[in-house]
Amino acid sequence: MLARVGIFDSGLGGLTVARALRGRAPALPLLYLGDTARFPYGEQPGAALEERALVIGRSLVDRGCTTLVVACNTASSVALERLRAELPVPVVGMEPPLKPAAAQSTAGRVVVLATAGTAAGERLARLEASHASGVTVHTVPMPGLADLIEAGRARDPRVLEMLDAATREPVALGADAIALGCTHYGFVAGSLRKLLPDHVAIIDAADAVARRVLAVLDESGLAVPAGALRPVDYDVTGDDRAFAAAIDCLRDAGERLPSLAEFRRRPVAVGS
Ligand code: DGL
Repeated sequence: MLARVGIFDSGLGGLTVARALRGRAPALPLLYLGDTARFPYGEQPGAALEERALVIGRSLVDRGCTTLVVACNTASSVALERLRAELPVPVVGMEPPLKPAAAQSTAGRVVVLATAGTAAGERLARLEASHASGVTVHTVPMPGLADLIEAGRARDPRVLEMLDAATREPVALGADAIALGCTHYGFVAGSLRKLLPDHVAIIDAADAVARRVLAVLDESGLAVPAGALRPVDYDVTGDDRAFAAAIDCLRDAGERLPSLAEFRRRPVAVGS
């Protein structure tokens, strides 16, 4: 059976994962769903977000997806176990890349940048307990950062101010690895790079998730077609013109994004 991978996030952040997956499997059928009607996920109560993730996940399965990627740390944090229990397809989630950051840090001091929801969540606390013992972890919630990126304003001066305010003190204390704990932040990794001394590593989970997805397809016996580059089919639950405009802004700012094809053969049955 041919694989068709459904990817979702609150908005365009998960395109950093779609981009990584596209880089490794140019012809793999991908359907991206941005739940822009409910953006931002990072400020929502966990229980509501868990229900919403289930609705979105079901809608992707209904649209023929053989495999699901929760390309959102916040939704994975609250809903991954439930999605795995209730959906009839394999589900790949994500978490802030604290484990590789801790492994890479020679100073034993790392920073995790995340949404308020992920920063306060149990998943991150468990991750810290199991993979960062002996490492000092500065978890910094970044309210408003995903919002600017979602609006296409990745090069807004406020982004630099937020990144500088979040990292200056821990880096001065010796932190030498920064884990990007929100898929939106992949679009400001270049700006962060310019702010930080060269020895400080920036770790984004997108490519590791892409590798995991391909391993899961293989384990599930789902075929990845070879062949020419395919656009990523996409749909949004909110204003599609605002989404397209934000993508254009990111492209104008120099971000590489996979080519996208609007997918509206069936309406999104995900409620209001
Ligand atoms: N991109 C999402 C994440 O990885 C969250 C952004 C938001 O909706 O707050 O957590």
